Amino acid sequence: MNAHARFDNLPRFASPLKAIEGLKPTEPLYLVHPEKFAGVAKQFLDGFDGDVLYAAKANPHPVALKQLWAAGIRHFDTASLGEIQSVKDVLPEAICHFMAPVRLPGQAKAAFEQHGVTDFVVDSESELDKLLAETGKPASLRVFVRLVASLGGALLEMSSKYGCRPEEAAKLLGGVAQAGAQPCLTFHVGSQCLSPFSYAQAIEIAQRTMVLSGIEIVALDIGGGFPTAYAGQEPPPYHWYFDMIKVAVDNLGKPGLKLMCEPGRALVAQGISLVTQVVMRRGDRLYMNDGIYGSFDEQRFLSFDEDYPPSGITLDAKGKAKVLSGEKRPFRAYGPTCDSADVLPRPVILPDSIATGDYVLFDAMGAYTVSSRSAFNGYYPDGWATIGT
Ligand SMILES: Cc1ncc(COP(=O)(O)O)c(C=O)c1O
Repeated sequence: MNAHARFDNLPRFASPLKAIEGLKPTEPLYLVHPEKFAGVAKQFLDGFDGDVLYAAKANPHPVALKQLWAAGIRHFDTASLGEIQSVKDVLPEAICHFMAPVRLPGQAKAAFEQHGVTDFVVDSESELDKLLAETGKPASLRVFVRLVASLGGALLEMSSKYGCRPEEAAKLLGGVAQAGAQPCLTFHVGSQCLSPFSYAQAIEIAQRTMVLSGIEIVALDIGGGFPTAYAGQEPPPYHWYFDMIKVAVDNLGKPGLKLMCEPGRALVAQGISLVTQVVMRRGDRLYMNDGIYGSFDEQRFLSFDEDYPPSGITLDAKGKAKVLSGEKRPFRAYGPTCDSADVLPRPVILPDSIATGDYVLFDAMGAYTVSSRSAFNGYYPDGWATIGT
């Protein structure tokens, strides 16, 4: 049996309340919403005028990969040999693209020879040389030079570690073309990017780079960054992004140019919610069975203004699950590990009646949650159920 086969037949419930009633989970429980996976994938596949690569780092779990495959996603942005292997293991027909600009020695060779990967990113001459030496067949490669696109508008910037300025990128494009590989450009405007305009600005930077280099690129990969709706954050609809991108790309005047995007967060965030249990309430403190070292790891890096507004759920004397109502108040929510840093960075707003043994349901927990959980202290959230009839 495949290691991931145990996720093929998850228990199924009509609603989160029914799941809590049925399972009375004492471990964190991920609830999968297939219609949400399908809905957002369709928006991208219908609305974006090019290949939609799912950035597997956002959630490489077999459940998420299979949901996206079922929704029609065929391309995957993979950032390491390990990610390529986990995608191929679950989806042997998946088309993987190796979109990290700095690779461990030997990984490009293995990706190329064992998995047929031909798209790679570089942002330095040394990585370009390494890539060419490892793969040895430049004509079959599309090499994407990564640009800095530090434009504001995103919650997490993605340009301080990788990317180069147009002048340097132009030289690299020259190197790619000279080596006989197919020159391409890419950038990442930053994750949870609330400004569609950032993409248009970055496409202009790509345009400037092309002019500087005098080289015709074959493909433009506009990266990830598309936002999802978190509590208190209503991003513009995706069609605003797609429309703005289309206008900016049309302005390039290159009808044959292949377009790609690499959404991670946008494709998986809404598709999974998380049930945690209150192991103990002490005054205004809740000690939960999941925290910063589990599903909430990314919360350390996000600076939202909003408090968390999850739902509180209790089981009544007959074992029926009910959403708690009544006056709400802020709680400090701790995770299960012994570390004092294991506390959510912002208050959690819940009804004052919440008590030990009750549940807290967090929505939009599909992105950068499952992928970065750790087994620190012996806690590892891994309960799963599907919601739907
Ligand atoms: C190269 C690359 N592409 C795509 C993504 C996905 O970004 P997002 O989840 O913001 O869409 C990332 C995120 O780190 C990335 O580094």
